[in-house]
Amino acid sequence: MELTPRLQAAADQVPQGARLADVGTDHGYLPVWLLLNGRVRRAIASDLRRGPLDTARENARFYGVTDRMDFRLCDGLTGIRPEEADAVTIAGMGGETIAAILAAAPWTKEDRTLVLQPMTSFPELRLWLQQNGYTIERETIAREADRLYTIWTVRGGEMPPLTPAELWAGRQSGDPLRRDYLDHMLRKVARALNGHRAAQSRNEAAITELEEVAAGLKTMREELP
Ligand SMILES: C[S@@+](CC[C@H](N)C(=O)[O-])C[C@H]1O[C@@H](n2cnc3c(N)ncnc32)[C@H](O)[C@@H]1O
Repeated sequence: MELTPRLQAAADQVPQGARLADVGTDHGYLPVWLLLNGRVRRAIASDLRRGPLDTARENARFYGVTDRMDFRLCDGLTGIRPEEADAVTIAGMGGETIAAILAAAPWTKEDRTLVLQPMTSFPELRLWLQQNGYTIERETIAREADRLYTIWTVRGGEMPPLTPAELWAGRQSGDPLRRDYLDHMLRKVARALNGHRAAQSRNEAAITELEEVAAGLKTMREELP
């Protein structure tokens, strides 16, 4: 069984020997792969919807890992007890949903490893983590076709304040895809700026903030070797 680059990047950040909770598991490929490859001891696959959870169950059966897997139909981590998981993966969901799931489970700050792969709202999620006692320890980037994804290892702890550009693109790193990622973010910020500048009633504060983000992203890009 092979994972896509995005899910493989998430799998690579899960600590060896963990008891995993995979929230929003859908097909369940991430926990199944981690079990098959001896990377986790046990895994709970959870999903808000019955259909995806049934698919995860079928995939687990197909790959012969059901004896080390549990399935929970629940919202976020509400159906998982803190003592059941020392690592939590939340991949392929919007940043605001991820923040809501963590806010409802403050135990995730206590000696747990979280692997987060948000699809949207990156600045909002980084700011929420910073303001709510989490620190981003590592970020990697994965490419699938023409899309880039970031995958974060997060733990409870104090995070030094992030600049406006770092809220958008994370701290500078030597990831081989970093240059492409900064270009991608610069285009995204440029689109947001164009939208604000063309609006009938201009939000000057938002424009100033986005200009600062764009300047910070350009500096980060210039600083890359
Ligand atoms: C796009 S899929 C991502 C699947 C997989 N994690 C991945 O990255 O490939 C999102 C899944 O999250 C589930 N989901 C959405 N909101 C959720 C929540 N609050 N709690 C649990 N699962 C949720 C959806 O039902 C769906 O199966």
